Amino acid sequence: MQAYHLVSGAQVAGLERVERPAPIAGPNEVLVRTHAVSLNYRDLMFARGQYGAIANRPTIPVADGAGEVIAIGSGVTRFKPGDRVINAYFPDWIDGRPTPVKTRDSFGAQIDGVLAEQFVANEDALVAIPSHLDYAEAATLSCAGITAWNAMFVEAALKPGDSVLLLGTGGVSILALQLAKAAGLRAIVTSSSNDKLERVRALGADATINYRDTPEWQNEVLRLTGGIGVDAVIEVGGEGTLARSIQSTRMGGTVAVIGGVTGFGGTEVDPLALIVGVKHLTGIFVGSRAMLDALAQFVEVNRIAPVVDRVFDFEQAREAYEYLDAGKHFGKVVVRVRS
Ligand SMILES: NC(=O)c1ccc[n+]([C@@H]2O[C@H](COP(=O)([O-])OP(=O)(O)OC[C@H]3O[C@@H](n4cnc5c(N)ncnc54)[C@H](OP(=O)(O)O)[C@@H]3O)[C@@H](O)[C@H]2O)c1
Repeated sequence: MQAYHLVSGAQVAGLERVERPAPIAGPNEVLVRTHAVSLNYRDLMFARGQYGAIANRPTIPVADGAGEVIAIGSGVTRFKPGDRVINAYFPDWIDGRPTPVKTRDSFGAQIDGVLAEQFVANEDALVAIPSHLDYAEAATLSCAGITAWNAMFVEAALKPGDSVLLLGTGGVSILALQLAKAAGLRAIVTSSSNDKLERVRALGADATINYRDTPEWQNEVLRLTGGIGVDAVIEVGGEGTLARSIQSTRMGGTVAVIGGVTGFGGTEVDPLALIVGVKHLTGIFVGSRAMLDALAQFVEVNRIAPVVDRVFDFEQAREAYEYLDAGKHFGKVVVRVRS
């Protein structure tokens, strides 16, 4: 089969198209013909050698795959050939709380991923695709979708009528916006681009802030919430935004610490602001297969169509990475593996 190889730290230029033996489904495993994969910021981090200590060997990159079951190993009961499936981000975090063992491996980093014509996964690491989604849309749910779901509905436990602040218009934030509006939340979205802010308003954003024009955007969030702050922040910014996100949060609210598009370096956190504000700072590490089940069901019931910015062909995988790196996208960037 055709696949891509990348060594952690070899940069996007190191992406190499190779011929590999097709994987075989062992006991309790499912063989999937990949139709689409979606890229995440973490795939850029892997290319740059910033995704933790990863063995220095060629790996099939990318975590999020969507495809069709073509074979099952012995003992498989959850799927049959022809089923349409997506994979969870961590093959071993099926449900319950995270542990170091459950989150040790993720597809496309510590173990082979899905930027290949076929991939194999334990049946417990797979979920059926919501019936109204095509493969490109479905491929967006594994990392960005679970992360947004975990942050808003598991860790922050948001309920209809609550408010959420979404930073930027990348994959996690736009999926979070779509889920938030379907769940009856009030969503405030920031972006560097007025054009993108217009697009988030069309998706239902209740208020928008251009963080370039308004560098002290936390004051605007407070103004928009009557001085109270939001119930939760989807904090994907990192060192350049965390302090302002904490200031934007109401007393007793949650800052879901997710990413570092401005960097993962040290940042000053005011302990007193957390103490007297009774604020929760909670790290989010994607989520479990059970969360993907819940997300898929919510997406199905609410007929949500995840926003796919652009679909690249398999031969253009490197261009897809470069496009994501340029940050001009809105929502998700997808590579079509099979047309
Ligand atoms: N912890 C986890 O489980 C987890 C899971 C998924 C992702 N992440 C992390 O979350 C972050 C986002 O991931 P992603 O895949 O959504 O990335 P992405 O699609 O590449 O998002 C990039 C977006 O970030 C926005 N941005 C850049 N600088 C910003 C700033 N100063 N303030 C606010 N927004 C800013 C930009 O939005 P505009 O163009 O609108 O300005 C840009 O389009 C990454 O750091 C990623 O590693 C973590």
